[in-house]
Amino acid sequence: MLPTVDLRPPFNISRASHIVLEVKDLQKSRDFYVKIVGLVVSDETPTTCYLRGLSEAAHHSLVLVQTEGAPACQRLGFRVYLDEDLDSAYAWFTGRGLPAKWVEVPYQGRTLHCEDLYGTKLELCAHMEVRERMFLKFEQFTGAHAQRIDHFQIFAPDCWKACEFYSQLGFRNSEYLAHGDKLLGAFMFRKGTCLDLAIVENVGPKMHHFAYIIPESHLIFTACDLAGNYGYGGSVDRGPGRHGPGGMLYVYLLDPDGHRIELCDGHYQTIDTEVEPVRWDAGSLSTNVRWGLPATEHWYFHASPFKDATTQDPEQKPNPQTLEMFIQQQSTQSNN
Ligand SMILES: [Fe+2]
Repeated sequence: MLPTVDLRPPFNISRASHIVLEVKDLQKSRDFYVKIVGLVVSDETPTTCYLRGLSEAAHHSLVLVQTEGAPACQRLGFRVYLDEDLDSAYAWFTGRGLPAKWVEVPYQGRTLHCEDLYGTKLELCAHMEVRERMFLKFEQFTGAHAQRIDHFQIFAPDCWKACEFYSQLGFRNSEYLAHGDKLLGAFMFRKGTCLDLAIVENVGPKMHHFAYIIPESHLIFTACDLAGNYGYGGSVDRGPGRHGPGGMLYVYLLDPDGHRIELCDGHYQTIDTEVEPVRWDAGSLSTNVRWGLPATEHWYFHASPFKDATTQDPEQKPNPQTLEMFIQQQSTQSNN
């Protein structure tokens, strides 16, 4: 069912590391991520703001870039373990005819821009400047005390092919979502917990959300309360709730430009190779929604475009059970 994973991949991606988002109003977005999410500013210029979580020593996990155009996701950043992994990555991407070029990025070591099979914009580096970890500076905490970036979720027009691509790079599935033989969602990791990259079949490439870990589950409600008080009550996009896959408590918020961030608590360890991925059946509501309501159509289908990327439709339009469908079914049942 799942593609074969290369356990000795051609280069060593170690984790999901950072994301670069274009935003219309830098100050407004900075405020959102500092006051509600609780990130700290590492550095900023009039057009760019570099932020990190409280337990992060690496310079940035979120980069906000002012844009005059439509807000988009510029890049998903992954760390590789050693500098030499970058050279192996360059050879691997170019050897397959995929885009790969060296770029200069502030506060990072040598940096490679490359793309997966569907044009998802990736950025690899082995080093960043180091800043103080802030997790004991309680007097400076704000928002939901976000600790560290955890994972990305992307759309790909063919989930199996995208999963196969990342399996070649050593990503393993902790869990996956399927309907019959059809793979609809792949929850993949490198760092040894459930997720670094989730792939869901839909019009792609697009960035559905990125996630930060919060240290205490009640801070999910703090994020919602602060979102309400700062005028983003309507931007609480899904939850609070509990995931089936991964089992984490979560909430999703939309930032001022509609980029989606998830705040979630921690999940289990996945380093051992003998453990089989957990299968979730997309046809069974009971396994996907243990309690609470299904997500809205907006949550399932809205995602940030990648800058300058061309999207492809999946062969079959996804047909998840949305909140709108659920309400319709309930009202039909109660009328009968
Ligand atoms: Fe997530």
